[in-house]
Parts: sequence; C-alpha cells; structure tokens
Amino acid sequence: MALWGGRFERGVDAFTQEFGASLEVDKAMAAQDVVGSRAHARMLAEQGIISLEDQAAIDSGLEKIAAQIADGTFAWDVNDEDVHMAIERALTANIGTPGARLHTGRSRNDQVATDIRLLAKDLCARLMDENRALRRALVDVAEKNLDVVMPGYTHLQHAQPVLLSHHLLAYFWMFTRDFARLSAARDAADANPLGAAALAGTTYPLDRARTTELLGFSRTIPNSLDAVSDRDYLLDLEYACSVSMMHLSRLCEEIVLWSSTEFGFIILSDSYSTGSSIMPQKKNPDFAELTRGKTGRVYGELMALLTTMKSLPLAYNKDLQECKEGPLDAVRTLSDCMEIAAGMIETMTVNVDAMSAQAGRGFTAATDVADYLAKKGMPFREAHRVVGELVLACERRGCGLGDLSVDDFRAASPLFDEDVAADLDPAGIANARVTYGGTGHDAVVAQLAEATAALAAD
Ligand code: ARG
Repeated sequence: MALWGGRFERGVDAFTQEFGASLEVDKAMAAQDVVGSRAHARMLAEQGIISLEDQAAIDSGLEKIAAQIADGTFAWDVNDEDVHMAIERALTANIGTPGARLHTGRSRNDQVATDIRLLAKDLCARLMDENRALRRALVDVAEKNLDVVMPGYTHLQHAQPVLLSHHLLAYFWMFTRDFARLSAARDAADANPLGAAALAGTTYPLDRARTTELLGFSRTIPNSLDAVSDRDYLLDLEYACSVSMMHLSRLCEEIVLWSSTEFGFIILSDSYSTGSSIMPQKKNPDFAELTRGKTGRVYGELMALLTTMKSLPLAYNKDLQECKEGPLDAVRTLSDCMEIAAGMIETMTVNVDAMSAQAGRGFTAATDVADYLAKKGMPFREAHRVVGELVLACERRGCGLGDLSVDDFRAASPLFDEDVAADLDPAGIANARVTYGGTGHDAVVAQLAEATAALAAD
C-alpha cells in the first residue's frame, strides 16, 4: 500500500503507477532529499516535537540509506512513486516507529521544493566552474595568438581587419555575462521552502529559520503558498542555460565556417573531428555542429517549463512534477557543450597566413583610406564617395586597393600622397584602433588584463 493509502480501497494498475511516478528523475536529488530530511528531523528534535532518541535513530538510518544510494545498493521500487516516499519507506522499514515520525509537520510539497532548490544551487555552482574553465581557455588562446590579423565581418562580408584575440575575447565577455546569469539563478534558488508543509504552514512549532541555517540557504521563503508552488528559479536556470547555449552556438557556427575549405582559418584537432563512412577525405566538425544543434533542445526546455507553469492555480499541482527533467537536461547539455567548446578552442591550429591574407581582401582598408582623406580636410561624406569610386574602379580591374599606384590614388584626389600605403596594411589598420575596447594591439593587451581580472573576480 502507498504511504498515503489509508483512504483508498484499491490501487492503480502498473501502467498508471509508472505514469504517475517521478522516481527515475528524482534519483538526481536523492542526496538532497536525505540532507533535507536530516535537517528537518534535527529541527523537530530541537523544538521538542520528536525525541532526541527518535532523531538519533532517524539520522543514522538516513545516513545508511544515503550510503546505499551512493554505492548503488539501495532497492528502488517504482511503487513508491517518488524519491521522498522511497526513502521514507526504507527508513521506517529499517528503524521502525522513529522513521514514521519523520514526516511530522512536513509535506512532500515543501520537501520536493527543498530538494530541487538544493540541487539547483549545486548545479549552478558546477556550471559556474565550467564556465570559468571555458573562459580561461579563451583567454589562453587569445594570449597565444595576440598579433594574428583576420578579417572582421558585418553581414558576413569583409568589413575591417581585427585581431583574432579581439574576436575570441568577444566570446569571453559573452560567457562572462552568462556567469552572472548563472550566479543570479543560483541566488534565486537559494531560499528555504521547508516548513511551508502542504500549502498553509503547520500547527507544529517549527523553527524555519533553523532549517534555513542547517541547509545553508541564505533566506527563508515568507509565504507558504509561494514556497510550494514557485519554480521561477528553474526558469532562471533554464534561461541562463539557453543564453549560454546561444553563445556557444554562435562560436560553434564560426568554428564550422572557419574549418571549411573556403575559409581555411583553423584546423580542428583530430580529437575533435570525425570522418565519413564513404568519403575518405572528410574531416568533419561534428562536435561544433552538435553543440549548435543541441541549443534547440535547451531552448525547448525553457519553453516547456514556461508552458507548464502557465495558468497553474495556487498552490501545489501535480503538473509541477514535470518541472525537473528539463532543467536537468539543460544543465547536462550546457555542461557538456562548454567542455567540448573549451577543448576544441584549446587544441585547434590557427592558420595565421590564411587569416592575414583574407584580412587584406575585400577592400577592408576602405574606411581607413576615407579617414586618410578626411584627416587631410576633406569632409568624410565626400571622402566616402571618392573611396567608393576607387573600390568600383578596382572591382572593374579585378584588383585590390593595395594594387593601385600613387598616381591612381592622386587621380581620385590630389590629397593622396605616398604615405597612404600605411593605411592599406591590415595589421596597421587593426593596430591603429587603440581606443578603449578597440582591436588595436595595445587596446587588446589592456582588454586581456581586464579579462584576466574579471576571471579572477568570478
Ligand atoms: N513527486 C512529486 C513531485 O515531483 C512530489 C510532490 C507530490 N505531492 C503531492 N501532493 N502529490 O512534484
């Protein structure tokens, strides 16, 4: 008979039991369930609600169960429905009456909310560690390739030369913001619902502040209805995961492009590539593609939970049982993808020559040539037109701006002189941009220092 079976004349059939159970997914929070129960029992004893002997029996009984769960010898039974009843039933089977007193002043509704919050805090902390490792990898690779010039793009068309380090650090800052989002999700989870009982609180003189302290929560949830029905912190976590996956997906899209024959900017390590079963020459960036692809499921999980939560009346509803699988999958996916991305970046070979050759193609010097004229007194709008006409002439002749003679330049404007050559060199163009946040060598060195400091502070 189920632990709640007193008022029932018959049970559900096996399929229906399976359908209603959350045992499989709950196993992820079994350790948290034990921790929550031990804290609850201790507080009950301190408040004189159960005896110290009962609490001692509960505590050692739960410790043994935790060990069995950890070493895989605990006998799970889907007929227990969920982790809370599985553990409570085993406890009472092992220690008798004291076990049957554990649930005093508690409901599975505040119990499950406590377990998920404890788990969510752990998961956020783990993701934050992995986020740091990924950012460290980006800083390392940016440092090692400090003066590699590449084309910067807008609309995926060559725009202006930039340093590869600058490009990689752009991702560093995206992941830095993701860290803040994960940290905010952790803070959202960091509140104690225990003591809310089923929905209304309880008549026992519980000390909620004490379980808050024992469980390491930073605060106690002030409303029992909200305590058992709030899953906002899981939405925060899934949103943080979604945004971070979006950033990874952008990075991986570039890895796919850059490793193509057309770009040839990078060669992925064999350890992060796969072959084809038919085409002997193939070396595919599968892991970058998979990361890009897995972004969809993480977005889906955010949308699934938003939809599950929509229209739920207060307080606990069984719909809430559906809130666990998605976040667990989102966390596992993001965690795996961050590790893969860090590995790909750290082990890739940068084709410096291909990058710098492309940095000068596609008239990437045009802005600087226009600036050259503007700095000699021509209004910028007019300079823009003059250089636009030069580009058109080059296109007709099938050459680049660098192939023009000084006379060609002079024919377009008498303001041009020999020194225009300095404004045609991709590295010179990139390194001239030394305002704060720019791509010039000196600005990127300063940015690297700022990134290193941000990493150390997180
Ligand atoms: N298995 C449930 C869940 O995951 C635990 C809470 C069930 N409470 C209830 N009154 N049925 O949400």
